[in-house]
Amino acid sequence: MVTGSPTYAEDMSSLVFRQLLSGRDFAKGDPMAGQMVNFAYLIGDRDSGEAMLVDPAYDVEGLLEIVDEEGLRLTGVIGTHYHADHVGGKMMGFDVIGISDLLATHDVPIHLQKPETEFVTKVTGVGDDQLVGHDGGDVLHVGDIPINLIHTPGHTPGSQCVLVEDRLVSGDTLFLDGCGRTDLPGGDAATLYHSLNSGLAGVADDVILCPGHQYSPKPTQTMGETRANNIVYRPDTVEQWLQLFS
Ligand SMILES: [Fe+2]
Repeated sequence: MVTGSPTYAEDMSSLVFRQLLSGRDFAKGDPMAGQMVNFAYLIGDRDSGEAMLVDPAYDVEGLLEIVDEEGLRLTGVIGTHYHADHVGGKMMGFDVIGISDLLATHDVPIHLQKPETEFVTKVTGVGDDQLVGHDGGDVLHVGDIPINLIHTPGHTPGSQCVLVEDRLVSGDTLFLDGCGRTDLPGGDAATLYHSLNSGLAGVADDVILCPGHQYSPKPTQTMGETRANNIVYRPDTVEQWLQLFS
């Protein structure tokens, strides 16, 4: 089960999955982190001790402490997209802590979609030697647990969603209510429509949607509930979509 507080997979799987809210579970007392209500995620494998962080920002030390507390060791980072509240860097005149700070102490690959790498370098200063550009459909592993990378452009050119067992970490591509904006550099409304509908079509209704921000009272819900209730799934055509959202 996944709830608002850090929780664990309670089945036979060795998956460790934690949804971590900025300002509450890490970056405590950081007003920006509290206001932005970002979710970072820890995806680990109890058997091998390996772990990856998704979207570590604001408080890299705090997130690494959580990895330590779990008795896991960090083997990689996954960035859903280049925005500083997800990977660190410059945002609204502030310098947000993120992957460049993490790399100072942990030499691990930063997994992105290929079209996102140049944007991440621009925002964080992290160069090609640390960034690994992937194609949609690529599969990473923590231990033996597969992590499927789904390229879902629209919010940004290289936005990606991460499917691990029955959880979809969606970054800013899809929230419980609504979706990411498309008016920032690299955003495109029609592209996002196709990502939400075709790109995520293979994600089953019983998969639990784990978004990049807590913009709804609930922290998670199933993809089936999302498809039934989220207004972004109401338009039947890209033309209707563009009338509503662009
Ligand atoms: Fe974003």
